[in-house]
Amino acid sequence: MTDIADVLIVHGGTPLEGEIRVRGAKNLVPKAMVAALLGSEPSRLLGVPDIRDVRVVRGLLQLHGVTVKSGETPGELVLDPRRVESANVADIDAHAGSSRIPILFCGPLLHRLGHAFIPGLGGCDIGGRPIDFHFDVLRQFGAVIEKRADGQYLEAPKGLRGTKIRLPYPSVGSTEQVLLTAVLAEGVTELTNAAVEPEIEDLICVLQKMGAIISMDTDRTIRITGVEKLGGYKHRAIPDRLEAASWASAALATEGDIYVRGAQQRSMMTFLNTYRKVGGAFEIDDEGIRFWHPGGPLNAIALETDVHPGFQTDWQQPLVVALTQASGLSIVHETVYESRLGFTSALNQMGAHIQLYRECLGGSACRFGQRNFLHSAVVSGPTKLQGSDLVIPDLRGGFSYLIAALAAQGISRVHGISLINRGYENFLEKLRDLGANIEPPGEHGGTGGDRRGEAAAVA
Ligand code: EPZ
Repeated sequence: MTDIADVLIVHGGTPLEGEIRVRGAKNLVPKAMVAALLGSEPSRLLGVPDIRDVRVVRGLLQLHGVTVKSGETPGELVLDPRRVESANVADIDAHAGSSRIPILFCGPLLHRLGHAFIPGLGGCDIGGRPIDFHFDVLRQFGAVIEKRADGQYLEAPKGLRGTKIRLPYPSVGSTEQVLLTAVLAEGVTELTNAAVEPEIEDLICVLQKMGAIISMDTDRTIRITGVEKLGGYKHRAIPDRLEAASWASAALATEGDIYVRGAQQRSMMTFLNTYRKVGGAFEIDDEGIRFWHPGGPLNAIALETDVHPGFQTDWQQPLVVALTQASGLSIVHETVYESRLGFTSALNQMGAHIQLYRECLGGSACRFGQRNFLHSAVVSGPTKLQGSDLVIPDLRGGFSYLIAALAAQGISRVHGISLINRGYENFLEKLRDLGANIEPPGEHGGTGGDRRGEAAAVA
């Protein structure tokens, strides 16, 4: 039985119209906060969103003696790493919550303290989410890792030395692991098959401001020359292109019109091309991007997710909801996460027609083709969606359920709504600003419970 306090009631059928604002990227800001740990001077980070991933990292930094204070302007943090100290293992475990970011503390803590502890990690259930690349990389720098019941203990008895690393897959987190370790390691590190997402580039900008020496070659090779010491930084985080795309998909699915203040064309170009192919309209100005449904039918498309500059996997789930309203058969091939299409079963429960396949459909063969993962989908549309009981599976799938409930006819009860706070700042307020007809937790007199709850009440 889901806690009533975590249920959002959505009265569907109202187009979302108005303006919202996105702040710094969820997938950059926590990493820039960890980077401050490497500095010998305080750092100032601007554009920080009030989301759970940021609060978790703020708490973990404070556990390690870093002072983190709000700055003079909204969304500004001042981080002072001059008194870094060991933290109590139980506290780290309790604080890490469902975030995966703690793994990125390894390099900085090994540099600052000579040891680190990483509890078992969380993160969205969209695939195995292994961290084998991370530990392989740290060992290549000279870390010694001991697996214990409560987590991994790391030491660097001979310090950390630069090395040649080739990632088996352009993993964002593993690339960040290399960057945060190599900048103070002795000598040069050469990283091939690196991830080059805009958030990675922004993290490199942060590190360069601190005094690091990092180059990115045209063949996805990143070279880092270790330095003795790093200073602080003042940096405005790139805006969240993933949140912006989620609202754009919501505009399409609800036949609405949303101005996303802060959205930037440069990091969203691939999304914008796809949006236009589906039949969405957008207008770009210096402060943001307006997304709207221009009327008429939407076009079915063949979509394949990939690493940057391909179609970002985090854009996929919200857009799939819009594809249920497109005329014809759309094909979606998810090549980054093996289980990121599971959320579609609930959409089918609402009236969508989505079939999943183990084969690599609509594009090139990927890692999952012969491994029995349902990682391709065929979406037949348009279909009328009916309100339903929905239980949020993961961050982007959860936001996709919000979009589906808003696009559907009738009432939906969305359970586990608090998970969305991990990556979408003030999303209930934003929905209200866009005219959504919703009853947030605490505003519905218990009618928000799931049907089992109602049945129990009757019995
Ligand atoms: C980051 O996750 C993002 N999260 C994800 O966004 C994003 O989808 C992903 O990068 C890809 O762009 C954050 O930045 C907090 P990966 P990360 O390492 O670093 C495999 C969202 O919704 N892999 O690039 O964990 C892995 O299983 C989230 O905002 C290994 O096999 O992703 C996956 O198949 C979801 N072993 C692929 O690489 C490893 O050690 C990509 O993972 C590491 C990864």
